[in-house]
Amino acid sequence: MASILVINGPNLNLLGTREPAVYGHETLADVERLCREEGAKLGVEVECRQSNHEGVLVDWIQEAGREIAAGRCIGVVMNPGAYTHTSIALHDAIKGAAVRLIELHISNVHARESFRHHSYISPAARGIIVGMGVDGYALAIQALVRLQDK
Ligand code: DQA
Repeated sequence: MASILVINGPNLNLLGTREPAVYGHETLADVERLCREEGAKLGVEVECRQSNHEGVLVDWIQEAGREIAAGRCIGVVMNPGAYTHTSIALHDAIKGAAVRLIELHISNVHARESFRHHSYISPAARGIIVGMGVDGYALAIQALVRLQDK
């Protein structure tokens, strides 16, 4: 069965208690369950990981690139958290490993502070889902399945 990797970056382990007015009340475990359930509906296996460490995220993107090249993985859904706005290393990893990646943000970053308006990830991403709450994860999984041969 083809797989999708869902990667959550820094501070997303705090979902549920972190600024609930911005990010909602669902926990990371709730989000990961939602992702696995969406995958099950679409016939893909969904693996979920979270790290607060930039280098670990780079390693996982490179690993996904190898899995995609081997035909075992459709792509990656990534919420890079604040590394969105700072990380050239993540941009380079996505491009360098030729990863089909959907960038996702729970909140509408464009309606927030100006430092959240720029993304180093977007130019390397296949697509972007922003401001749809945690339902965005299901939409991103659907998008990867629909885009897999395109
Ligand atoms: C976020 C938006 C980022 O600006 C922020 O640093 C996060 C979460 C979101 O999901 O809305 O950590 O990626």
